[in-house]
Amino acid sequence: MNEESVSYLPVTQHDPATHDSPAVQGIGDRKQIRISGPQDIVEARQKGRIMTQEIGCTPTQSTLVATAISELARNIILYAEHGEITLVKIAGDGKVGLQIIATDKGPGIQNIARAMINGFSTSGGLGLGLPSLKQIADSFTITSKPGQGVRVDMLMWLGDKSGQVKA
Ligand SMILES: Nc1ncnc2c1ncn2[C@@H]1O[C@H](COP(=O)(O)OP(=O)(O)OP(=O)(O)O)[C@@H](O)[C@H]1O
Ligand SMILES: [Mg+2]
Repeated sequence: MNEESVSYLPVTQHDPATHDSPAVQGIGDRKQIRISGPQDIVEARQKGRIMTQEIGCTPTQSTLVATAISELARNIILYAEHGEITLVKIAGDGKVGLQIIATDKGPGIQNIARAMINGFSTSGGLGLGLPSLKQIADSFTITSKPGQGVRVDMLMWLGDKSGQVKA
């Protein structure tokens, strides 16, 4: 089956990793965390929290980011066994934020639109993970190639650039 890529919010100038965009730039090092067990979820959450603190965002935003990272990592372990989370601080249009990319080489998602429906789950879960991520993201793109894996790429703008970025 062919690759399917679905963007749920306008991916205008986002995504420094995949789009050559002058409007959004990665700041500092990207953090890559291999995900294959629960301890890796803890590590990815912690790295995300540190990066949000460096950006200077509110504790609520920090928790939201940690929750998003957890959900993506949980999906990796549940459906693909292992994969990777990449975190990149971003800046653009006077804003700062975080890009969270989850990749795996698992079975892929057969039908992305269906997977994005509230309550759809193939594991007996609540089926709320991906739809919730879409809600909290400023840009959200899923790419899947059945048999070859999934890439979820989300951006969250988190604060004002002026004076808050320590990176
Ligand atoms: N990385 C992935 N690889 C393959 N399939 C996936 C992946 N992530 C999600 N899916 C598919 O998309 C469905 C919906 O995912 P979602 O995270 O929204 O819900 P869930 O994991 O089933 O339940 P919840 O996250 O609410 O506990 C999953 O049931 C699964 O079929
Ligand atoms: Mg889930």
